[in-house]
Amino acid sequence: MTQRIAVIGAGLMGADHAKIVAEDLPGATLQVVCDMDQVRARGVADALGAADVANDPEAVISRTDVDAIIIASPDFTHAPLSLACIRAGKPVLSEKPLSQKPDECIAVMEAEMAAGRRFVQVGFMRRFDQSYVEMKSALTAGKLGRALMMHNFHRNVETPASDFTGAMAITNSAPHEFDVVRHVLGCEYASISAYQPKRSDARVAPVVMVLETTDGQLVTIEINNNAAYGYDVRAELVGEAGSIAMNNVAYTRTDMRLSSATVYEADWRGRYHEAYVRQNRAFLHFVGTGEFTSIGSNAWDGYAAAKVAETGAKALAAGTKLAVEMIAKPEFYK
Ligand SMILES: NC(=O)c1ccc[n+]([C@@H]2O[C@H](COP(=O)([O-])OP(=O)(O)OC[C@H]3O[C@@H](n4cnc5c(N)ncnc54)[C@H](O)[C@@H]3O)[C@@H](O)[C@H]2O)c1
Repeated sequence: MTQRIAVIGAGLMGADHAKIVAEDLPGATLQVVCDMDQVRARGVADALGAADVANDPEAVISRTDVDAIIIASPDFTHAPLSLACIRAGKPVLSEKPLSQKPDECIAVMEAEMAAGRRFVQVGFMRRFDQSYVEMKSALTAGKLGRALMMHNFHRNVETPASDFTGAMAITNSAPHEFDVVRHVLGCEYASISAYQPKRSDARVAPVVMVLETTDGQLVTIEINNNAAYGYDVRAELVGEAGSIAMNNVAYTRTDMRLSSATVYEADWRGRYHEAYVRQNRAFLHFVGTGEFTSIGSNAWDGYAAAKVAETGAKALAAGTKLAVEMIAKPEFYK
């Protein structure tokens, strides 16, 4: 049976999701493209052959010709629209974060628990990236011995807005690392501290975080939103018996004039295209079978990312290490 999918938000991410639904998801059709900006919605819908366009997300969610929803509108819309999907009894893939507010994530969990089944997959697609898949399987297979540390670097060319702050680096950019590291290590965070060096200009400086896990590991995360040279994500998992590191993904290398060079992408979309496709296929499988992805993030994971991000922003402002005080994990998510 073909699953009819509505994409809410037709900006950068929404257009990419709509393209994946239309071109890379056998068994799915792009039913509706919904955006407050009708010109944008129409542009994406026409380019991809969507059946319809709309501008009211709540009305789209309750349509009888829509089986599942992908939310790619701004952060503050994710929790309210996920709740609307749960009320309508429809599976939803919400872009990250589920919310920047831990309380809103708790409300989503409570709604799922009251309904007695899962509806919400959160779009932390890094979990589907082959590098992290191999790190997790090396750890699970016992090849690395006990995990000791995980080092992470997340660099963008430049900040999208001139008023981007260190706190926003923690709440907007770092959640990818927060989520994928706790997924790879299989534990939660106990504490977080955050620091910034001084730049010579007014641009936001990198943020460097140190986190302790509940299992006694150390995690370092550098978020550099103004790295200037390219989009660059690195990670290395260090165990007692060895370490496993992500390679820079590049199809070619140019050797000339006594030097060797590979290219960097300008942003994340090419680097993680395969991960988005895998994530969306896992979501389609969930829509068709009711079987929730074993890799992807659920509402609890959305809560965990929001809680550590909120604590990290406070730790940066306070200049001290803070405990990450999470609620007890409900049985429903174990
Ligand atoms: N997973 C990732 O790697 C990744 C990367 C980038 C962005 N994101 C997330 O995706 C989301 C969208 O980001 P973006 O970069 O595409 O933003 P964007 O600004 O390019 O697009 C957002 C779109 O949503 C529309 N919109 C706003 N409010 C709406 C509403 N109530 N109903 C319908 N449409 C509405 C806007 O008109 C706009 O077209 C954000 O939450 C962001 O955090 C995730």
